[in-house]
Amino acid sequence: MAERPYIVGNWKMNGTRSMLAEARAIDRSSQRLMKVEVALAPPFTLLHAVHREVEQIGVGAQDCHPGADGAHTGDISASMVSDAGAKFVILGHSERRQDHGETNTLIREKAEAALSAGMRVIMCCGETEAVRDEGKAESFVSRQLKASLPERIESVTDSLTIAYEPIWAIGTGRTPTVEDIEAMHRTIRTLLVDLFGAEEAEEVRILYGGSVNAENAKELLSADEVGGALVGGASLTAESFLGIVIAAA
Ligand code: G3H
Repeated sequence: MAERPYIVGNWKMNGTRSMLAEARAIDRSSQRLMKVEVALAPPFTLLHAVHREVEQIGVGAQDCHPGADGAHTGDISASMVSDAGAKFVILGHSERRQDHGETNTLIREKAEAALSAGMRVIMCCGETEAVRDEGKAESFVSRQLKASLPERIESVTDSLTIAYEPIWAIGTGRTPTVEDIEAMHRTIRTLLVDLFGAEEAEEVRILYGGSVNAENAKELLSADEVGGALVGGASLTAESFLGIVIAAA
């Protein structure tokens, strides 16, 4: 497995220019923590400004359109976010699946567009509480991921990160047990090996996301097969986000 943990802050629909100070503080402190790879995904409106503000950390987008250009009012293409400074795109997030009816097929098309534009994809997956209660979480996530990932990816290790985010843990303060996270991450690893071969798939980082904070980060990040975290609420201030980055170091 890749050695350097990857901690990504997803600002979701939060942030105006006053948040640039947080990005700057995160960047400056991360320069001292070279053992951790740190990135932020601000809203589109801040993408270029955050990109210009930071030196050390990565910057990515929270979505992109599958098409190259054209008459799609309000949409933003992969080449546009890349031009604004994005090095990766978060795709398949449960909030986009729920709020915008995004299907696995659409997510796969978006991933293909992002990869063609030279960006890395952070592909999200995760089950509802009902699916977990039925004992079907692992089979559900495997199917969802298989249907959302492009069938062919060049340099899988460099291009792909997976984020496992149980929907019932997002923004709720609840997290799965470490054993449940490890079991799910092993299932995801097995799928990646089946799809892309052991040599490449073993190096793909599988992040955990869902109510990660400075207090629980050490335990969650020390779980087997957890290569980092995708952080929502706790990424909105430098203080809380850096607490997670420090726990990962
Ligand atoms: O993208 C981040 C995840 O949805 C987790 O959000 O840390 O607020 O639970 P959260």
